[in-house]
Amino acid sequence: MERGFFLVLEGIDGSGKTTVAHKLKEKYEKRGKSVLITREPTDYELGKYIRDYLNKVTEQERDPLFEALIFAADRALHIRRRILPHIEKGYLVISDRYFYSSLAYQSINGIDFNWVLEVNKYMLTPNLAVFLDVAPSEAIKRIHHARNVFEKKRFLEKVYNTYLEMVKRGMLIKVNGNKNISEVVEEISLLIDDRWK
Ligand code: TYD
Repeated sequence: MERGFFLVLEGIDGSGKTTVAHKLKEKYEKRGKSVLITREPTDYELGKYIRDYLNKVTEQERDPLFEALIFAADRALHIRRRILPHIEKGYLVISDRYFYSSLAYQSINGIDFNWVLEVNKYMLTPNLAVFLDVAPSEAIKRIHHARNVFEKKRFLEKVYNTYLEMVKRGMLIKVNGNKNISEVVEEISLLIDDRWK
């Protein structure tokens, strides 16, 4: 059986990852592939707990140490229960966020990037990890639920810069997320096809 492919989509809130994931799914299903869209935080117990926590805390109350650990725990189960079994069955697995989100969102307030990287050391490496590049000022317009837009923007700028740093390091491949959706999907599918042989 053909081996699957593990694609990760990353980007700041409002960057359009979820729409891109669905368009990619359509495209590959038309080609006869089996496709699974999944996301982090997951819909397992711990993932639900995390979503609940994220809904309740203000930006100032967020605790990156706690978050890095709990997101990693959720991820470990995600890999074992869902990602790996589907890759083994030949699926294109598309994860809306993965450990790059932890590096971008939790390496703040004294928690350094390398420590977060260390915590995620044993997580499966994806075949392709894409950073959907949309500027914070643009993304914020797409988020209607932000509690405090100013606070949110400053936070997203930090997150955004860390993503760019990962692009520089070669951990993520940058795709311009401001283009129209079909161009974005086309660009990502070329990257996939190049690697999925
Ligand atoms: P979600 O509502 O799924 O937002 P989005 O649609 O933008 O992905 O919430 C996910 C939030 O969790 C998002 O703000 C990023 C954050 N997050 C982390 O801080 N660390 C992580 O490791 C992951 C996976 C997500």
